[in-house]
Amino acid sequence: MALIFDSDQEKAYTINCNSVITAGAGSGKTSVLTERFLWLLHHRKAQVDEILTLTFTRRAAAEMYERIYHRLKGAGESHSGRELERFDRAQISTLDSFCSQIVRSSCHLFGLPENFDLNEESIKKLAEETSFNFLLAHLEDPALSELITIMGFERVQHNILSDIAVNHLHLGANFDFMDMYARQQDLLIKKSIQLPAQWENLKAQLSTLEHPGKVLAENKEELKRLDSLKSLLIEERYNELAQLLGGLSLSKRGGDKSEVILQMKDIVDQLRETAGLLIEVGTLLANRHILKSFLSLLESFQAEYDREKRKRALLDFSDLSQLAVAALLKNKALRNYYKKKFRYIMIDEFQDNNQLQKELLYLLAEKEDLLGEGIPQAQDLEEDKLFFVGDEKQSIYRFRGADVSVFKGLSGELAAQSREPAVALNTNYRSEPGLIAFFNRIFRNIMGDAVFDFEADFQELRACNRK
Ligand SMILES: Nc1ncnc2c1ncn2[C@@H]1O[C@H](COP(=O)(O)OP(=O)(O)O)[C@@H](O)[C@H]1O
Ligand SMILES: [Mg+2]
Repeated sequence: MALIFDSDQEKAYTINCNSVITAGAGSGKTSVLTERFLWLLHHRKAQVDEILTLTFTRRAAAEMYERIYHRLKGAGESHSGRELERFDRAQISTLDSFCSQIVRSSCHLFGLPENFDLNEESIKKLAEETSFNFLLAHLEDPALSELITIMGFERVQHNILSDIAVNHLHLGANFDFMDMYARQQDLLIKKSIQLPAQWENLKAQLSTLEHPGKVLAENKEELKRLDSLKSLLIEERYNELAQLLGGLSLSKRGGDKSEVILQMKDIVDQLRETAGLLIEVGTLLANRHILKSFLSLLESFQAEYDREKRKRALLDFSDLSQLAVAALLKNKALRNYYKKKFRYIMIDEFQDNNQLQKELLYLLAEKEDLLGEGIPQAQDLEEDKLFFVGDEKQSIYRFRGADVSVFKGLSGELAAQSREPAVALNTNYRSEPGLIAFFNRIFRNIMGDAVFDFEADFQELRACNRK
C-alpha cells in the first residue's frame, strides 16, 4: 500500500539537485528513496536501468528491490508496465557488489583473475601466514631482530605485521612508509625543542616557591636531589632522570605551610610527565636508524603481501573499493561508460561509508564533459545526480572502516553547489511519542555538543501524531 507522504518527504523525493537527506531512524528515509525511484520513472527522467540504487547490506538491497518492484507493479500505468518488463536490468545492490562488478571488468589492469575471491577471514589468515614467512626470511635483519628481542616473535607477527597488513595495506594503494617516517621525524624534532623549554619553565616555577624553614628541613634530601635534575637533563641522561623522578617523594608534613609542598608536588608531577615524554622522544630520535630500516623492511613486506593477494586472487572489502576507485581513475573509458549509463545515483545508509566510497560516487557523478585525472571536487559534479540518505547517529560499521565525518561533511559540500535548500525529515513514523521524547532527551544530553566528529549533532525529531 502506498504511503501518504508528508510535505517534507515529498520535497525530498522530488528534489532536482544533488542532495543529502540527514534524518533519524524511522523518519522515512528509505521510503523516500524508494519513492524517488518511482517518481524518476513516472516523470520520465530515467528508465529502470539508468538509476543506480545502493545500500549497505545485502538484506537491505533485497528489501529495496522488492519494495520498488511491488510499488511499480501496483502503479498500473502503461508506462510502469514497460519499466516492469525491464526491471531485471535495474541495478539495486550493495555498494560492495557494485564495486566488485567494476573491479571484475578491469581485472587486467591489476593483474588479477576475474574470478577473485572476496573473503575477510581468508585475508586475515593470509596476513598471518605472510607475516610469519616474512619474519622467518628476515630474521637476520638487525632492526627486526632488535624488535623481536624486545617484543617477542609472536607480538611482532600478530600485533605489528599482520595488523598493519589487514588494516592499512590495500591493493591499488601503496602505503608510503618513508613519508610516514619523514613526518614522524619532523614531529619528534619539534617536540625535542618544545619539551626542554617546558621543563625549564617548570623548574623556574619551582624556584619561585618559598621554602619556609620547617618545610625545607623536612624535605632537605629530596630538594637536594631535585637540584641534580638539570644536569641530568643537559647531559641527556634520560633514564636516570626518570628513575630520580620516580623515586622522589616530598613530605607534606610542613604544618600550616603545607600549601607550598602541595604546589611543589604538583610541579614535580608535571616534571615527571615532561620527563616521560622527553624519554620517549629521546629514545625514538636516538634509535631513528632502527625505525627507518624497519619501515623500509615494511615496504618489502607490503610488496610481498600484495604479491600473495594477487597470486591467490584474494581480496577484502577495502581492496575492493580501493581498486574500484583506481579502475575508474585509470580506465577512463570505463568511467565514461558508467557515467553515461547512470543518470541518477541514490544511496541509502551513507553514514556507514567512508571517504573512498564517496570518491567512487563522485567519479561516477563527474560532469559528463569532464574526464579528469583526479577525484572530482563538488563543483565538478553533475548538478542533479546524487541522492545521499543517512543518519549520523546510526553509524554501526566503524569496525569496517565507516567514517561518519565523511557523511557529515557531505551536506555542506553539496549544499554550497546546490540550487535548492536541503530538506530535513523531522517526523518519526516508527516510534511511539513517549519513546521519542525519551530519546530526544538522552541525545540532547549525550550529543548536545559534538565533541568528536564521529559523534552526531543533535537533531530533534517530532513525533508523528498517528491516530
Ligand atoms: N508519510 C508516512 N506515513 C506513514 N508511515 C510512514 C511514512 N513515511 C514512512 N513511514 C513508515 O515509517 C517506517 C519507517 O520508514 P523508513 O523509510 O524505513 O525510515 P528510515 O529509513 O528513516 O528509518 C516504515 O514502516 C514506513 O512505512
Ligand atoms: Mg532506512
